[in-house]
Amino acid sequence: MLQASFPRWPEVETDVTPIDHLRWKLAAAPDPEKTHVVAEAEGHIVGCHLSLVREYLAGGAVTVRTDIDVAVAPEWRGRGVNGAQTKLSIETSPATFVLTTTDNPSLVRADHYRGHRPLRNRLISTSCDLTQAVHTSGTRVDSIASFDARTETMWTKAAEPYEFIAAPSAAWLNWRYCDLRGGNGFVLQAEQGCEVLGFVAARISRGKGYIAYLLALPERSNVVQALTASCLARFQEAGLREAVCALPGHHPYRGLLTEQGFSQNRRRIPLTTRPGYPGDPERPSLRKPNAAVHIMLGDTDLI
Ligand SMILES: CC(C)(COP(=O)(O)OP(=O)(O)OC[C@H]1O[C@@H](n2cnc3c(N)ncnc32)[C@H](O)[C@@H]1OP(=O)(O)O)[C@@H](O)C(=O)NCCC(=O)NCCS
Repeated sequence: MLQASFPRWPEVETDVTPIDHLRWKLAAAPDPEKTHVVAEAEGHIVGCHLSLVREYLAGGAVTVRTDIDVAVAPEWRGRGVNGAQTKLSIETSPATFVLTTTDNPSLVRADHYRGHRPLRNRLISTSCDLTQAVHTSGTRVDSIASFDARTETMWTKAAEPYEFIAAPSAAWLNWRYCDLRGGNGFVLQAEQGCEVLGFVAARISRGKGYIAYLLALPERSNVVQALTASCLARFQEAGLREAVCALPGHHPYRGLLTEQGFSQNRRRIPLTTRPGYPGDPERPSLRKPNAAVHIMLGDTDLI
């Protein structure tokens, strides 16, 4: 059904079969609760509304639902199937906040009607020509096979300047970036003694290298630079010609990426949020163009 619904599914390139990718996505995710919805008719699955639930920090812990694969089989569209499965998903989800990245006009209309509003500090994609030289730096960066509690400690400190950022979870990171069923890539971490200073999680898909997630201790721009440079060098070694990274338009790493050769390619990724329940605070500061949000492609299902 997913493959009949999208021009290509999965969108990310993997070395595993699509069903193994789906099992990774749905069964292996360390979700506190699974709230996937499917629509059945005449003995077949004709639609699905798949979403992941994850804790974020937004002036306190917030349970956020991110819709991932929302689809209805072509012959069943326009009859309210998605309306019904979305309603059930909302009713059964434990989330108090919803984050979506869709540009499907029908879903955008329906989301707007349900109260979704854009984050004005939206994700903007930047790309880097990998045929140019990469400027490496002195900070040591190593490849890691899995995350541990030290990354969570770093994350807790790194999250302080942001008013909306995912909560630290080594289990979530290991599922997202260290399981080959999710896609090909690598993780690089900067350490000093036993302390983790930052990490970058990279994806390689359809001939491009993606910086899926990048996070470093506050005020450690040298660490961001070192992680980015090492990541670009690894992309070059893999024979890639272009690297892509999406960051909020207003973000402390944006200038650092420009220094490394990234330039804005103006692809704006829609990002809307809405409080999940009546009475949940609207968080108006999140709507400001310069809101301190840390969201990257790895937080979405886009890569
Ligand atoms: C987007 C998608 C999930 C919508 O599914 P759907 O079941 O057709 O959705 P609905 O039927 O609930 O709503 C679709 C439209 O039909 C209308 N509709 C719903 N019930 C209706 C009915 N009984 N009679 C007439 N129209 C109806 C809705 O108002 C809506 O109108 P709009 O698009 O003008 O706003 C489906 O088109 C799809 O799978 N697209 C491809 C995959 C994709 O792009 N997914 C989104 C990205 S993750």
